[in-house]
Amino acid sequence: MAPKLKFTIITLFKEALEPYLNASMMWKAQDKGLVEYEFVNLRDFGLGPHKSVDDTPYGGGDGMLLRPEPVFAAVESIKAKDPSAKVILPTPAGELWTQKKAKEMACKAARHLIIICPHYEGYDERIMQLVDYPISIGHFVLTGGELPALIIIDSITRLIPGVLGGETSAEIESFSDGNNIEYPQYTKPADFRGLKVPDVLLSGHHEKIAEWRAEHTKKAQK
Ligand code: ADE
Repeated sequence: MAPKLKFTIITLFKEALEPYLNASMMWKAQDKGLVEYEFVNLRDFGLGPHKSVDDTPYGGGDGMLLRPEPVFAAVESIKAKDPSAKVILPTPAGELWTQKKAKEMACKAARHLIIICPHYEGYDERIMQLVDYPISIGHFVLTGGELPALIIIDSITRLIPGVLGGETSAEIESFSDGNNIEYPQYTKPADFRGLKVPDVLLSGHHEKIAEWRAEHTKKAQK
């Protein structure tokens, strides 16, 4: 069995993440000992009596930015215990997240990933000094890093061998190279209101079924 993959999530809003990570497949992955999710409260590293983590931008402009000190202190406290941990920053300015990248992280990247969830209107650019992987989940802007963090975690976790029941890593290899997404699938009944399951899938003929699936594999939109 591969060593456990640990995610340490630095956030101000753990309550936004916990329900998703403690349900369904993300929960099962934890239960099977394949992943661990740990939360670090950025507020614990805040400055002054108010534990402040943000401030106004130099040069003017709207909104507040995450200050560097609390983020550096949070990451350094985690890395003091595990210097091999790698850091992900969800940001609209990052590299576009893909199935290929998720697979790389599930298979060969570090066994400990730290995800910083920015909030407010952005972050002080010096935070980038800490980051190994700046990641964008798409060409749109969200209010914080929590949803991107969940998307990144889910897409990596489901690819860890043993998380999805019955699926071998070889199957994952052939069907999720980031381009070939999936073939149409059907379950019972064979005829639903006149909408019929293709005969070949009922035939029990494994070669023909594999051919049909290859022919009908959908291509990802670029
Ligand atoms: N934070 C805000 N918007 C984002 C996006 N599209 N991807 C990653 N992080 C983000």
